[in-house]
Amino acid sequence: MAESFVLNTGARIPSVGLGTAKTEPGTVGEAVYAAIKAGYRHIDCAPAYRNEKEIGLALKKLFEDYVVKREDLFISSKLWSGNHAPEDVPEGIDTTLEDLQLEYLDLFLIHAPVRTNKGAVRTAENYITLDVPATWGAMEKLYDSGKARAIGVGNFSCKRMEDLLAIARVTPAVNQVESHPGWQQMKLRELCESNGVHLSAYSPLGRPGSPAFTGPSFLSNPIVISIAEKLQRSPAQVALRWGLQMGQSVLPKSINETRIKENFNILDWSIPEDLMSKFSEIPQIKTLRAEFVVHPQGIYKTVEDFWDGEI
Ligand code: A2P
Repeated sequence: MAESFVLNTGARIPSVGLGTAKTEPGTVGEAVYAAIKAGYRHIDCAPAYRNEKEIGLALKKLFEDYVVKREDLFISSKLWSGNHAPEDVPEGIDTTLEDLQLEYLDLFLIHAPVRTNKGAVRTAENYITLDVPATWGAMEKLYDSGKARAIGVGNFSCKRMEDLLAIARVTPAVNQVESHPGWQQMKLRELCESNGVHLSAYSPLGRPGSPAFTGPSFLSNPIVISIAEKLQRSPAQVALRWGLQMGQSVLPKSINETRIKENFNILDWSIPEDLMSKFSEIPQIKTLRAEFVVHPQGIYKTVEDFWDGEI
């Protein structure tokens, strides 16, 4: 299995990247340092995670310590919800670049179909109607300028992807969505694949232990456990490897060095075809339903509205 996938820009996105959402202050910098030392070359960031300054300091130290060169890394980040107005998009990437202490991003995504007025608190009642064509036009200009070497979207449903593909001058390189054996995204995967859009998986472990998800974790599904036992790997490794074999890059989040290494150790073995076919029997449950986007006065009255019924 290749250690990277080719994007429609011709650039390569590493197969495994480090997710950095929901980290306590003071933990993500060490995780980034440990991940790069362990061989990771992709760090997935976002201003919404409120830790880009800390990541920037870790990257600076990695460069100063000659652990890695900027050109060997793939750094992705995302547009803040308050910067969707075309005139505010450049400021969105500039703030991120300043915090990360970088000159360019390898990938810049519209984080989610969530927009607020500039400076407004990002709560559901403050959400305003999106204008994806206008925001995308400004993203295309960032791509033209070279500040974002690839552009894409996050949390876009099939419907939103189709609408965007219909108007895009620059085809999105990536759609970053929740994807794992317990939420396989088959329809979206097919749509993306047939349009040259790479699917990148956040929460590829299904957010085990998240207080926001109380459903059964697919990591304890007997099918996953029996495959893990047969291959002498952990259920987490099997889940991540499934993702690679489905053609998606995976972005497991961890701040624990042992698990950071475990999650990267998925490149030199594979799940045989007969075991891959068993994954279709795993019940499908989305772990990030995003109830927090729903508000009676907001633009999303139900989670179904937000995901265009694809939930
Ligand atoms: P921790 O940071 O303490 O390692 P996801 O990437 O699907 O959103 O999942 C992130 C959650 O999974 C975090 O709570 C993380 O905790 C935990 N995690 C990361 N790697 C593993 C692993 N290999 N096995 C079990 N849990 C893991």
